[in-house]
Amino acid sequence: MDLPNGAVRVDARARREVRVDPSRITSVAEARRLAARVLPRALFDYIDGAADDELTMVRNEEAFRRVSFRPRMATATSEPRLGVELLGRTLSLPVLLAPCGLAVAVHPDGPGGVARAARARGTVSVLSAVAGVSPEQVGAALGGGERPLWYQLYAPGGRAEWEPLVDRVAAAGYEALMVTVDTPALGNRERDRRNGISGSMHASVRGAALLAAQVAARPGWAARMGRALVASRRQGTDGPTVGLVAAGGSPFTWDDVAALAERWDGPVVVKGILSGPDARRALDAGAAAVVVSNHGGRQLDGAPATLDVLPEVVAEVAGAMPVLLDSGVRRGGDVAKAMALGAAAVLVGRPYLYALAVAGQAGVERLVGLFRSDLVRTLVLLGCPGVDALGPEWVTVAPEGSGTVRR
Ligand SMILES: Cc1cc2nc3c(=O)[nH]c(=O)nc-3n(C[C@H](O)[C@H](O)[C@H](O)COP(=O)(O)O)c2cc1C
Repeated sequence: MDLPNGAVRVDARARREVRVDPSRITSVAEARRLAARVLPRALFDYIDGAADDELTMVRNEEAFRRVSFRPRMATATSEPRLGVELLGRTLSLPVLLAPCGLAVAVHPDGPGGVARAARARGTVSVLSAVAGVSPEQVGAALGGGERPLWYQLYAPGGRAEWEPLVDRVAAAGYEALMVTVDTPALGNRERDRRNGISGSMHASVRGAALLAAQVAARPGWAARMGRALVASRRQGTDGPTVGLVAAGGSPFTWDDVAALAERWDGPVVVKGILSGPDARRALDAGAAAVVVSNHGGRQLDGAPATLDVLPEVVAEVAGAMPVLLDSGVRRGGDVAKAMALGAAAVLVGRPYLYALAVAGQAGVERLVGLFRSDLVRTLVLLGCPGVDALGPEWVTVAPEGSGTVRR
């Protein structure tokens, strides 16, 4: 299955590529279902899974279900405002694409396709430090024109590693730097352990191909990725090496954040905040924004749902800087709920990875389009004229443990 030159051998059956029409993606849940059919099991589990018992991942989505809307009738709202101003850029909708490692193995369009999709839909994508491609490659994938691109930093090697990297990112035209502070060690992803893909500094698509039975069961993916590998070899570029998060994690202190803010000539966004005091520390260290995030439940299992701690964070730093949120956002209604509770915008991770797996860049565009139409519909039904008009008066939050509505 694995050739010495790095190419993946695909049999005749595998050449029958499965092409999925992006319009088949009708929701995040449907994208997830389709992605499970497209991706080898280990890769799907890497995306879909979380830490330990996956309690925090479940909690994230449940927290959104505990929020109910307080709609206003007969308001004649028809074209609600979705645009937001964020760190010097106007976004056409308040949904950004979160940094995700391994995107390069999901589909040949990879992180470049994700960045193009975000731009086409008027939003921002954040390139993960371990996406498997360099910041320059994704910058080049965007070509000329707008660069609604942020870069997410991990630096297990400390300052000696991040200093030159940050300078490269700046030279490549990235608009903001995102520092992820919730990964001093890698979370215990048991699905990955079972599938034999955790604990290594780097795994490659070649390595993934060793999981022969799984790959053989997904011939469309194997054919696509095999062609991408061969093409990248012909072009003399690096094959899509897939960086997993460094096994030892990437510890940052508030002093590091302050040093980064000093060096980076633009906004620094701190991702992974789960309390008011930490939001204050980020602000004091020079952050321009924070992301309330528990990494989609992939780090500390038992961490609170992000929506539950959002009001505390907003109360601490409201007015001083924008507070973003991710983890568990699955519908436009969730975006409205987070914004009603004070988020300036949200990010999504798994939703767009599922869509990328299904239909590449077109799938991601479709997915962002669904968030847009969902959000419009939600605001119209709410009788709310725009995301800028949302506030706590539009929702009621039931306490944790009070019972949730299940699908
Ligand atoms: C497959 C995968 C890889 C991820 N890799 C990174 C990463 O490299 N850096 C990072 O800061 N966050 C990473 N995250 C976390 C996301 O940025 C984001 O916080 C999370 O996915 C949000 O939750 P959601 O998937 O429920 O939307 C990753 C998430 C997933 C699903």
